[in-house]
Amino acid sequence: MIGKLAPWYREHGRHALPWRASRDRWTVLVSEVMLHQTQVPRVAAVFDTFMARFPTPAATAAAGPAAVITAWGRLGYPRRARWLWEASLRIVQDGWPSDLSELPGVGRYTAAAVAAQVDDDDRVGIEVNIRRVCERVLGTRLAESEAEECVREIGKGLRPRDRLLAMMDLGATVCTARAPSCDRCPIVSLCATRGTHADETKRRPQARYVGSFRQRRGTVMARLRVGPVAAAELDGEVLASLLDDGLAEVTRGRAHLPRPPRRGSSPGAGVRGR
Ligand code: ADE
Repeated sequence: MIGKLAPWYREHGRHALPWRASRDRWTVLVSEVMLHQTQVPRVAAVFDTFMARFPTPAATAAAGPAAVITAWGRLGYPRRARWLWEASLRIVQDGWPSDLSELPGVGRYTAAAVAAQVDDDDRVGIEVNIRRVCERVLGTRLAESEAEECVREIGKGLRPRDRLLAMMDLGATVCTARAPSCDRCPIVSLCATRGTHADETKRRPQARYVGSFRQRRGTVMARLRVGPVAAAELDGEVLASLLDDGLAEVTRGRAHLPRPPRRGSSPGAGVRGR
């Protein structure tokens, strides 16, 4: 049965997604950062426009944080936009690090996923879809290293880039969380559970957005994207959290999106990375 994933991926993989056409490191990094907390269709809708505006680290660094945060629009979790801008500045100043997790906002999965897609690097990234496929195949919850081992087994014969994307696509389109289509699965004969393994399908209920702090932050961010505003007019608790995240600044009582640092000062001062 090992070997069936490759032809399935060739025929059914989501090859038309806009970021899949690229092996450019910056393009793939931006896509992974966006996809980390935003659904595929929402990223696909804005991706080309964003990349046309910020095609390289140099263009992004030069545009400044406010431009990136504004263009991020409604993708949510705008700290990612701030981190992306900081990452662009680091790349312009010091070059690409060999381990991308040294960049602000880039975690272990993102670093491995970019390396696999751009360099066919053999490190395995485990995201939610891939983990679900592996846990169903083996019929048990898995530690990170066990899931990695499982991907290597299932994906034998595939190059690292295709292995990552095939596993991800299988999880997103066939081995879905709520209604797996085992009749369409290329590895069903390997699978211990065939979709009956319920553990991991019990999803944590989505935190309610309406009335949440995230929604209040979204409202203030939307106002700041329009232009500076008297800080006193804004939700104080929200503004404090945005200041803390480097997403807003206050100058002479007016709140605004962050301005580029003056030469010689640290862009990330006071901003937590991941
Ligand atoms: N292609 C590459 N990375 C992806 C991801 N995280 N989600 C969907 N498609 C992708």
